[in-house]
Amino acid sequence: MKDETILSGMQPTGALHIGNLEGALKNWVNLQNDYNMYCCIVDWHALTESYKDTSVLKERIYQVAVDFLAAGLDPEKCAIFIQSNVKEHAELHLIFSMLTTVPTLTRLPTYADKKEDLGLDSYGFLGYPVLQAADICVYNADKVPVGKDQEKHIWLAADLAKRFNGLYGETLREPQVLLTKIPLIPGTDGRKMSKSLDNHIMILDTEEATAKKLKRMFTDPDKLRKDDPGHPEVCPVFALHNVYSDNPNETIAPPCRTGELGCVDCKAKLIINLNNSLGPIREKRVVIENNKDYIWDVLNSGATRARERAASVMESVRSAMKMEYF
Ligand code: TRP
Repeated sequence: MKDETILSGMQPTGALHIGNLEGALKNWVNLQNDYNMYCCIVDWHALTESYKDTSVLKERIYQVAVDFLAAGLDPEKCAIFIQSNVKEHAELHLIFSMLTTVPTLTRLPTYADKKEDLGLDSYGFLGYPVLQAADICVYNADKVPVGKDQEKHIWLAADLAKRFNGLYGETLREPQVLLTKIPLIPGTDGRKMSKSLDNHIMILDTEEATAKKLKRMFTDPDKLRKDDPGHPEVCPVFALHNVYSDNPNETIAPPCRTGELGCVDCKAKLIINLNNSLGPIREKRVVIENNKDYIWDVLNSGATRARERAASVMESVRSAMKMEYF
C-alpha cells in the first residue's frame, strides 16, 4: 500500500514555533498515513551555522523531537531520527560532491542570500545542498515535502540522481518536490516568524504567554483608534485569524473595516482560537517532555530503521560504481 517514500528534514533549531508547526509539521503528520516516511533532524546541516558552539545541539535536537511527537508524528508510522546517526548520508554526500560543479552551487539563491546575511563562506556551507541531496537520495525517496524556498535544492537532488544514473547505470530515484502550501504565519512584529527575530509564538508557550505576545502584536498601522476603519489585508493579526479562526472573512474582516471591531477585541478572539487549536498539542508536549528515555528511544530506533534502508541503497551505489572490492 505505502509504496512511495518521503524524506523530510528539519534543522534542530530547538523548540519549534507555530510557523514550523503550520508550515511543515502538520503536513508531515498527514503524509505519514499515506507514505513510507522518514523524518530527519539534520544536525550536520546545523553545523554550517553553529559549528563553533556545538554544546547546544543535543538539547535542540531533543526539543525538536518532543515537538514532532506532540504534533502527532507517530514513530510507528514514520522513522524519526538524527542525520548524524546514519553515516550513509555522509558517504553519498562525498560521492555527490564529485558530480556537481562549484558554479552550480554558488548560483543557488540560498547560497548568495545566506552568505551575505551570515558571513558564511566555508566549504561545508557551499556543500549544504549537496548534503541535502544525499539526505534524500540515500533513501531513494520519491517525494520531498518543502516550501517554494527549498524547491531548487530538490531539483539539484534530482539532477544528481540523474547524473549518477547516467554515469553508473540506473540506481537512484529522482526525487520530486511535493510543494507544501505554506500558510502565511507572520511574527508578532509583522515580519516572517523566526526565532532569531524574537517575534515567535512557540508550541510550548503557555496560554498566558501566548496571550501576552498576541496583545502586543502589530496590527494595521492606520488603525490607531478602536473605531478607525481597518485593513485586514495588511494586518498580521488577521493573517493569523485566517489560520486559526473559522470564516474570518465573514466574522472578522467586515466589522474591522467598518470600525465596529477594535484591535483589542479582535486579538481577544484570536487568543482564544489559537490557544484552543494548540491545546491538545501542548497537553501532549507537557506529558512527554520529561520522558527522556522515551524520546531518545524513539530517535534511536528511528535511526535503526533509517539505517537499514540507507545501507541497502548505498550497497547498490557502491555496486553500480564498481567499488565493492571484496
Ligand atoms: N534545507 C532544509 C531547510 O532549511 C533542511 C533539510 C536538510 C531538508 N535536508 C533536507 C529538507 C532534506 C528536506 C529534505 O529547511
